[in-house]
Amino acid sequence: MFIAPFFTLCALAFPAFSVPVATTTTSSVSPATFLNLGSTSYTLQLPIGTGGVAKELAGTSLASYSSDYFYVNKTGVTLYTPNTGVTTSGSLHPRTELKHNTNWKSSSSTFKNMTVSLQVDAVAPGKSVVISQILSFSNGPQFMVHAYEIGKIVIRAPSGTKTLDANYKIGSALVLNFSASSNVLSVTYKNLVSGATSSQTFAMTAYSDNYYKAGSYCQIVVGDAGYCQVTVSSLSVTTV
Ligand SMILES: *[C@@H]1O[C@H](CO)[C@@H](O)[C@H](O)[C@H]1NC(C)=O
Ligand SMILES: *[C@@H]1O[C@H](CO)[C@@H](O)[C@H](O)[C@H]1NC(C)=O
Ligand SMILES: *[C@@H]1O[C@H](CO)[C@@H](O)[C@H](O)[C@H]1NC(C)=O
Repeated sequence: MFIAPFFTLCALAFPAFSVPVATTTTSSVSPATFLNLGSTSYTLQLPIGTGGVAKELAGTSLASYSSDYFYVNKTGVTLYTPNTGVTTSGSLHPRTELKHNTNWKSSSSTFKNMTVSLQVDAVAPGKSVVISQILSFSNGPQFMVHAYEIGKIVIRAPSGTKTLDANYKIGSALVLNFSASSNVLSVTYKNLVSGATSSQTFAMTAYSDNYYKAGSYCQIVVGDAGYCQVTVSSLSVTTV
């Protein structure tokens, strides 16, 4: 599954004292640096950990972190989620997911936006991977974008499920834009390979503690076959 990172290949190909080329398209930078995650904005939740408790990383631990689950992969950062049996508390499903750390109010008229560019590399057979979410800290998941192995992307909202792309081909790059203000959420979707676009608007409940997440939240449970993998090429959240 995981091959030698690019810098290892470079180290074999070039003398150790050669100056690394400053480019964000190789793993000479950490995943957090590649995605410009900043020093305090995000927490990474992993599908591994001791005692069945998912490992979470933030701050300086996240800044330099790279592993088989979270690594720079040429055009993005790959989030790999195998079935390790380790989940965050309250969930049956493993995840390699970035949580934005700032909570926001649905009712505020200021825009709270998230834009994520990614491609779904793999989904466990017959399952889905949640690639973006809005949750309320005290009320749980509100909006979840699921990419199904069968090639369909939907958003599940409290008011029902809407299709964003009925013909998604695994491996295709896509962009998702969320913008929330005054209890209204707008979601736009673009498939950069097929060109398919769609947008949906939803009413939001006036919760005061919403937050964004993006990554690979794999909808498998212990004993299920397969894994999920998502490669994120850019991620930005504006909550000011
Ligand atoms: C790197 O990214 C590609 C495309 O997103 C993916 O297919 C592949 O599994 C990733 N990992 C490695 C080690 O190549
Ligand atoms: C947030 O999204 C809204 C609606 O698309 C847009 O008007 C606004 O400029 C965006 N704000 C930022 C900071 O991207
Ligand atoms: C998403 O938002 C970004 C930044 O505001 C913008 O450049 C891009 O065109 C938007 N894409 C879609 C599909 O709405």
